[in-house]
Amino acid sequence: MKRQLPRHLVLSSLLLLPLAGQAAERLNVLCAADSEWCELMRNAFVKETQVEVSMVRKSSGEIFAQIRAEASNPKTDIWWAGTGDPHLQAAGDGFTEVYKSPQLDQLQPWAQKQAENSGYRTVGIYAGLLGIGYNPEVLKQKNVPAPKCWKDLINPAYKGEVQIANPNSSGTAYTTIATLVQLQGENEAFAFMKKMNDNVSQYTKSGSAPAKALARGETAVGVTFQHDLLKEAIAGFPVSVVSPCEGTGYEIGSMSIVKGAKNMAAAKRFYEFALRPEVQSLAVKAGSFQVPSNKTASIPPQAPRLESVKTINYDFAKYGSDEVRRRLLKRWDDEIFSLPR
Ligand code: G6P
Repeated sequence: MKRQLPRHLVLSSLLLLPLAGQAAERLNVLCAADSEWCELMRNAFVKETQVEVSMVRKSSGEIFAQIRAEASNPKTDIWWAGTGDPHLQAAGDGFTEVYKSPQLDQLQPWAQKQAENSGYRTVGIYAGLLGIGYNPEVLKQKNVPAPKCWKDLINPAYKGEVQIANPNSSGTAYTTIATLVQLQGENEAFAFMKKMNDNVSQYTKSGSAPAKALARGETAVGVTFQHDLLKEAIAGFPVSVVSPCEGTGYEIGSMSIVKGAKNMAAAKRFYEFALRPEVQSLAVKAGSFQVPSNKTASIPPQAPRLESVKTINYDFAKYGSDEVRRRLLKRWDDEIFSLPR
C-alpha cells in the first residue's frame, strides 16, 4: 500500500531545508579585560545565543592598532572592554560604528557621557580607579617604606623595584601618563617619568601584569588599576592597594562595534547582552571588581569606588583624541622608553 506523508509535514520539512544548509551565526571579539572575565563573557553569550564566538585577549593599545590596520577589511566585529581612551581615538578616526543602544538611559551618567563624547561610537561598560600596589613582604625584606603618593615612585630606595606597563600596548599605562600630565602639567610629568624610569625594572605589555608580578613577589611596587591589585589581594596574595595622595585618574572601560563588521547583527546582540545588568553582575565571578555601568547591576562590595577617594577631573575627550594620544605616546617613546634601564 502506498503511504503518503501528510501535506503539512511535507511543507514544514521543505521549509527546514535551507536552514540546514545555513552556516551558524559567528562573531569575532577582541577583549581587553582580564582573560578570566573574557572567557566568562564568551561562555555566557554562547550559552544564551549559540553564536560561534572567536575571542582573543589583547591589551587596549594593541586592539586599537589591529582595528586601525584592518580598517579596510575588518576581521573583528566587536571590541569589548579595555580603557576608554583608545576607544575614543578609534571613534574619532572613524574605525567604529555609530550605534545607540535602547539600554543607554539605564547606564550611569559617566557611561552615557562616554557615548556622547564619541558621537555614539563607543559606550562605557565599567569604571575603575588607577592606583599603586606594593608587596609588603618584599618591602620589609628590603627595609623600604610603603609608597603613599605618586611622588614616592621616584624615591631611589625603589631602584629596580617598580613595574608599570608600556603605554603603547597598555591602556592602563596610557591612563597613568594622562593622569600624571593632568596632575602635574605635561613637561613636569615627563620629567617625573624620566626620574621614575631609574626605578622601573620593566615596562610590561599588559596593564595588569605588574599586579601579577607583585603577587608572585617578583617586584616590590607596581602601577596598575586598583581592582587588578584587589583581585590578587582577595586571592590571598600579599598585595596592598594605595590610592595616591595627590589624587588619581580612572578609566571608563568601553565597548565599540567595528565599522563595517562582517557579523553586524551578532555584534549588536553581543553589545546588548554586555549592557544587561545581570550580565554585568557576573564580572565578580571572574574576580573583576570594577564598577559596572548599568545602574541596576550589582556593584561588588569590595569594588574601589570613585567617590571614596580623591580623583582628578579626567578629561576623556582630550586624552582620547587622536592628536593628544598619538603625541603623548610618541613623546614617551622618544623621551622615556629610549632611556637606559
Ligand atoms: C585590566 C583591567 C581592566 C582594564 C584593562 C586594560 O584587565 O582589569 O579594567 O580595562 O586591564 O588592559 P591593558 O592591558 O590595555 O592595560
